[in-house]
Amino acid sequence: MQVSRFSRVGFILAAAGSAVGLGNVWKFPYMTGANGGGAFVMVYLLTIVCIGVALFLAEVAIGRLSRKDPVSAFRDLAPEGKKGWKWAGFIVITPVLIASFYTIVMGWILKYIVLSISSLPNSADKAGALFGGMVTTQVGEQIFYFTIAFFATFFIVSRGLIKGIEKANIILMPLLFIILFALMGYAMTLSGFGDAMKYMFVPDFSKITPNSVLAALGQAFFTLSLGVGTIITYATALPKHNNLLKSSVMVAGLDTLIALIAGIMIFSFTFHYGLTPSEGPGLIFVTLPSLFGDMGTFGNLISVLLFVALAFAGITSAISMIEPSIAYMENYLKISRTKALVIIGVVVYILGMLALLSNIEGLKEYVTYFGLGFFDILDKLTSMILMPIGGILTCIFVGYVIDKTLLRELFLEFMGEKFFNLWLFLIRFVVPVCVLIVTVSKFLA
Ligand code: TRP
Repeated sequence: MQVSRFSRVGFILAAAGSAVGLGNVWKFPYMTGANGGGAFVMVYLLTIVCIGVALFLAEVAIGRLSRKDPVSAFRDLAPEGKKGWKWAGFIVITPVLIASFYTIVMGWILKYIVLSISSLPNSADKAGALFGGMVTTQVGEQIFYFTIAFFATFFIVSRGLIKGIEKANIILMPLLFIILFALMGYAMTLSGFGDAMKYMFVPDFSKITPNSVLAALGQAFFTLSLGVGTIITYATALPKHNNLLKSSVMVAGLDTLIALIAGIMIFSFTFHYGLTPSEGPGLIFVTLPSLFGDMGTFGNLISVLLFVALAFAGITSAISMIEPSIAYMENYLKISRTKALVIIGVVVYILGMLALLSNIEGLKEYVTYFGLGFFDILDKLTSMILMPIGGILTCIFVGYVIDKTLLRELFLEFMGEKFFNLWLFLIRFVVPVCVLIVTVSKFLA
């Protein structure tokens, strides 16, 4: 099968586009705030280096060696007699579920771009009421913005891996970097900047708790889009003589850099205005808008930039959630790309609609199961169960099932024997055990 190929920078930007998302700009700062600052950041950096990069390389290996969609990849790379491994490829369902609620959050972001231009709330109370009111009562408005985010995502994917996904990333990622650097530059002029740096980089070791370690590991997983077939799918289009180690480290590095910049910027604002960093998920949608609303016209400008950056980060991630299942349907099931897009589109739209309604007063009773709203079910099911399972399956497959000479051949071009053995050790023992501990302990907590 002839597969089209990314350019070198195309792969790095596309994979970084997938990795850099709402997880970096929205989730990482509030998790840092909720888990005690510097100590959390340190554990997070450690898990990215030891666990994130190792697993990322494992997924790159599966994609690059097979050059096929995840289901075919697991089937083809498994030795005779173990072809049942193709079922592991169905991890491509996970990102479809993630896309359903991720697109809703992207809708909120679009609404906040509009708000930033028109009128921002000028007190924390008003901002809280506005955000809460939108999520729990505004059905039509949320459906409107959700639908726009939905079509934008599917439009890009419909244009294909190279003309759609690579191109969108080559345009949007540099713009995202520019906006974030500009915002960071402004944040450096604020008196809160020093406090923000201290808060993020001077660890208070007493704040390292089992819970903050678990949170850091979970975040490392989500932020690098691991355990869901995304990196496998993108790696199928790697150019032939690509230094896989260098590319992977670049992606993880960019992802980490963006998370840190977002954190520094957001905490600079927070401290400058004497607010508390441990605000939780509302940090972006409540705390910051109220502060910008209080700053006058300049605040509107900063706010537009921030939410546009979030929208760019969001859409380059959303497209990476859809592509793996489309690749599977096209290559394995031999369905046309258009048909595949319609099928996955209908699924995402219906699930997204149910998730949206599950936040609405008066309707949520109809979409609540086991005491959890459908939105939360999708979120928890994917991040607490499906992604970790995908990660563990990937480790077992690469560590124990694939022919080792293939891996050796692929990697020894870029790394020494010692490094290769260290990586294999991480994939066979360290990563799966850590992921297992995290997953199980979340259930016990
Ligand atoms: N990594 C993205 C973020 O940080 C989210 C993301 C993109 C993702 N693709 C994914 C998460 C696939 C899980 C699976 O926001």
